[in-house]
Amino acid sequence: MDSFVIQGGVPLEGVLRVSGAKNSALPAMAACLLTAEPVTLHRIPSVRDIHTMRQLLELCGAAVVENGDTLRIEAGELATPEAPYELVKTMRASSLVLGPLVARCGRARVSLPGGCAIGARPINLHLAGLGQLGARIHQTHGYVEATAPQGLRGAMVPFDRITVTGTEDLLMAAVLAEGETVLSNAAREPEVADLAALLTKMGASIDGAGTSTIRVRGVQRLHGAEHTIIADRIEAGTFLMAGAITRGDVEIRGCVPEHLTAPILKMRQAGVEITETVPGSLRVRPGGKLVSVDAATEEYPGFATDLQAQYTALMTQAQGISIITETIFENRFMHALEMLRMGANIRIEARQAIVAGPTELSGAAVIASDLRASASLVLAALVARGETVIDRVYHIDRGYEKIEEKLEGAGARIQRIKSE
Ligand code: EPU
Repeated sequence: MDSFVIQGGVPLEGVLRVSGAKNSALPAMAACLLTAEPVTLHRIPSVRDIHTMRQLLELCGAAVVENGDTLRIEAGELATPEAPYELVKTMRASSLVLGPLVARCGRARVSLPGGCAIGARPINLHLAGLGQLGARIHQTHGYVEATAPQGLRGAMVPFDRITVTGTEDLLMAAVLAEGETVLSNAAREPEVADLAALLTKMGASIDGAGTSTIRVRGVQRLHGAEHTIIADRIEAGTFLMAGAITRGDVEIRGCVPEHLTAPILKMRQAGVEITETVPGSLRVRPGGKLVSVDAATEEYPGFATDLQAQYTALMTQAQGISIITETIFENRFMHALEMLRMGANIRIEARQAIVAGPTELSGAAVIASDLRASASLVLAALVARGETVIDRVYHIDRGYEKIEEKLEGAGARIQRIKSE
């Protein structure tokens, strides 16, 4: 298992470039299962979850050709519409193939994901929705089997709570269902809208993606298409916070500022200066003194749970007490326990982290527990005095493309130590 060794205390300076969004690329790749024709996807980040999804598509029978950050995926015949436990246990987003496989093949067998480091994360809402579209759902031996030999039928699908991949899974199922489907209380994340844009290019008929009501008129077949994945707003947000926590001067290029409205607002309130230099570029600089500002995670367009850990790191450097509330996942404060070891003053009470700052952090040996927790530890290490060793950075490799190279390019002293 690789680790990062980081010498803190260097303000970042220079340019950080944002890759394509992992959480948009994953459903886009799953969507390629909906047609026998080739689909070309550009700006695919080279991260471990993407490699896992590629393996999954290949296991199902798709041919995948990589050329730089472009993937050409051709799902001519799908002999094995299955997602085995070995892959699902390393990436929960594997359940994204469920909807497209039932829609295209009339059957799918997908391992149920188990618990995970940030919460229970069941897929009951995906299954309920597919049931509403007429699929028969059967659970056995840790797998869910969904069948619809006569094809899916359009239906009303009201989600009990907002789910991002649930909305995406059902959207992919609905595009080939007979008749109209209405997804209500749907996720409004930009990744859902990006998936709808791809599906529309493939011949689907979708209205309202990006709002909480999505209407789909099913079509008989989809065709090949070419699509460029949107910028990763979570990577961009992480970089903004890296610039802010080190009191650096960084330009973040290739992002979509509108997708970052909530975190930018919080950071500005906290005293960070963020300006849009040219379209798609944000410059972050210290404004005045960094002050505490409370934040609560919410579904988009609210403050993303995927930026909560990084924001917690930032607040350890802010003057005053900030209360950070996590409303999406029930167990997403593992990073705070590691930050305590670096000298942070954080108390966890149920779903809240109460951070008192500023505290001088000091380098320590810490363990990354999940993807975004790892990113927050990198941020804490960048500002800490002395050396931090972050173990198990395979978590960060799941979702950040070459993060150590990118940060090093902006002056960070970060090194990957490869394990044997
Ligand atoms: N939920 C259910 N039942 C379901 C589905 C979800 O109870 O069937 C609950 C979850 O347990 C959670 C809440 O609903 O408490 C929201 O979960 P959601 O389904 O929206 O999460 P997800 O689709 O599994 C995606 C991202 C996550 C991100 C969340 C929230 C992808 C591949 N993953 O997960 O990204 O945190 O939405 O925005 O899009 C990450 O990139 O680090 C990451 C965890």
